[in-house]
Amino acid sequence: MASSRVGIGVIGYGYWGPNLVRNFVSNASARLVSIADLDSGKLAASTHLYPGVMTTSRYEDLLKDPSIDAIAIATPVRTHYELAMAALKAGKHVLVEKPLAPNADLVRRLLDEADRRGLTLMVDHTFLYTPAVQKIRDLIKDGQLGDIYYYDSTRSSLGLFQNDVNVIWDLAVHDISIIQFILNEEPIAVSATGSSHVAGSPENMAHITMFFESECVAHVSVNWLSPIKVRQTFVGGSKKMIVYDDLEPTEKIKVYDKGITLDASPENAHQFRIGYRAGDMWAPNISTKEALQTEIEHFLQCVRNGTTPISDGRSGLKVVELLEAASLSIANHGKPVVLRQRQRVPEDVKVA
Ligand SMILES: NC(=O)c1ccc[n+]([C@@H]2O[C@H](COP(=O)([O-])OP(=O)(O)OC[C@H]3O[C@@H](n4cnc5c(N)ncnc54)[C@H](O)[C@@H]3O)[C@@H](O)[C@H]2O)c1
Repeated sequence: MASSRVGIGVIGYGYWGPNLVRNFVSNASARLVSIADLDSGKLAASTHLYPGVMTTSRYEDLLKDPSIDAIAIATPVRTHYELAMAALKAGKHVLVEKPLAPNADLVRRLLDEADRRGLTLMVDHTFLYTPAVQKIRDLIKDGQLGDIYYYDSTRSSLGLFQNDVNVIWDLAVHDISIIQFILNEEPIAVSATGSSHVAGSPENMAHITMFFESECVAHVSVNWLSPIKVRQTFVGGSKKMIVYDDLEPTEKIKVYDKGITLDASPENAHQFRIGYRAGDMWAPNISTKEALQTEIEHFLQCVRNGTTPISDGRSGLKVVELLEAASLSIANHGKPVVLRQRQRVPEDVKVA
């Protein structure tokens, strides 16, 4: 490392890139050296805010600069592989926007390159660094929710329509990374349907169902054509349930001590009476720290110490594999795609 601070280059200063730039600039362990974008207007806007930071329309300039140790890539998904591979080959650590690459094969090539060179490869799955999602993970891990029955989320708004990826690669990618982070098991199958309402454009709404070996099921609804913005997730457990509303300014998570109890009826041991339990609701205190601030601190630590990021290339690969399987299911009108074989035989099909 050329100096005590990690030298940073950022490629892509469109909608999301400025958020990365702002957080690198405010981090004392980083030194933002240069920003690359094809659009001169975007570069002029960055110079206005950060006059000391170099700008260029050629990302290759960042690769050649020995004062740059790590590169963050915030360009459209179709460009992620080419830019990330070029950065790794130039010996730079890399933070890539979600999803890591447009298919799993390309992600594996990036993983191999990073491993071979001993470089950090991290993907910006921003939600994993939000205090709300970290709290949900802790509550599940502590057993406070009991067995997890379902994860059910809606992520919709009017726009932003993308032209290089469909709505699942843009929005459901968040839920898939969250599910992978908070649940202690991998889905065994996925089924998805999607529709496009703009001729020649990718699907702008989709529904994905993920099946697990346990009784858990995850359902994700994503939509770019919704009259209102919704970011709501329900996590149902045998002991407690969570409602997570990311649009709530303060009480993002509400934990409900609600559920059902099953009593076997005395007449017939196979018939259950369902009782409803309605206890208290509480909203845990959650830090308001910006997720990207935490994430960029973590990236810089991983670069410095060689530790494995929470959202490393391997977790990025699992997300892309799931997105690929869901895309295959959409192409086959919802036909389930098996991801792995069951380990257990379900109770009801066991031979007596
Ligand atoms: N983590 C999040 O919550 C989050 C949110 C929004 C977008 N994103 C991701 O960020 C990425 C970018 O999305 P966006 O909405 O900012 O897109 P955008 O189109 O607004 O910006 C992309 C920028 O990259 C530039 N660019 C494209 N190719 C380039 C190249 N070869 N060299 C230099 N610059 C180049 C474009 O000129 C543009 O300014 C996507 O991967 C998207 O999924 C992540």
